[in-house]
Amino acid sequence: MSLAARLNGLYGRSIYLPVTILSQSYRRASRRLRGVQRGQETRLPQAAWHEVFPAKPIVLVQPQRKQGDVNLGELAVLASAASGIDGGGDIVEIGTFDGRTSLNLAINAPAQARVFTLDLPPDARSKFALAPGERAFVEKPRSGRHFLEAAPEWASAAGRITQLFGDSATFDWSPYAARASLVFVDGSHAHDYVLADTETAFRLVTQKGVVIWHDYGVWEGVTRALGQIEASRHLGLRHVRGTSLVVWRNE
Ligand SMILES: C[S@@+](CC[C@H](N)C(=O)[O-])C[C@H]1O[C@@H](n2cnc3c(N)ncnc32)[C@H](O)[C@@H]1O
Repeated sequence: MSLAARLNGLYGRSIYLPVTILSQSYRRASRRLRGVQRGQETRLPQAAWHEVFPAKPIVLVQPQRKQGDVNLGELAVLASAASGIDGGGDIVEIGTFDGRTSLNLAINAPAQARVFTLDLPPDARSKFALAPGERAFVEKPRSGRHFLEAAPEWASAAGRITQLFGDSATFDWSPYAARASLVFVDGSHAHDYVLADTETAFRLVTQKGVVIWHDYGVWEGVTRALGQIEASRHLGLRHVRGTSLVVWRNE
């Protein structure tokens, strides 16, 4: 396993993420002093990544972030979640984009775990309206390019990734029901989609499995939907400190 990938893992989790936490606390305190409000209010209780996921070593490839990607700290937390799944379970990702997260999930998961990642084809109709501005993530040159063009070292992990195409709200998820140890919800950020994809995630996840959402506090539709779900169902959703990830374990 390449030294660079190991160093990326170490850097992402032990330097990038703690520095992000510090800088977020500083900016929050500074805004409070100035009486300035920015972004959406996030009310879910926070947890440190190591309170919810194992601290096994992780490796990260494609560390450079492009618009639409998770940041390096978030990638490290997702890799940690994948490293902790039980061997028999699958991983489902809703929203493939460039496949950077799919590839890192596959690399860090147990060797027999399969990754299924769904993306909306650019010419497909969507059941609900997408959020303003997110068409750019749908209309990309090649969905999943990072695992489709993976370096030989990661070819075996990339080979465990299955690409699915469709609208997450109308896709037939029945073959995948109750089989996923980890579901990553990162498709459309529109409120209707977050609600629908969350219901899907709950159907896909195994007992003791984990659901992770991205972009809490970033996209209004995600923040509002997760707040409503927690207020009405008291599931115990937790916001992973220093990230826009929210996690729930099916216990
Ligand atoms: C923010 S990107 C996902 C990023 C990716 N998970 C990652 O971590 O690199 C959102 C993705 O969701 C896809 N998407 C948007 N609406 C969707 C829908 N209704 N069904 C399936 N995929 C959708 C977009 O095409 C885009 O690839």
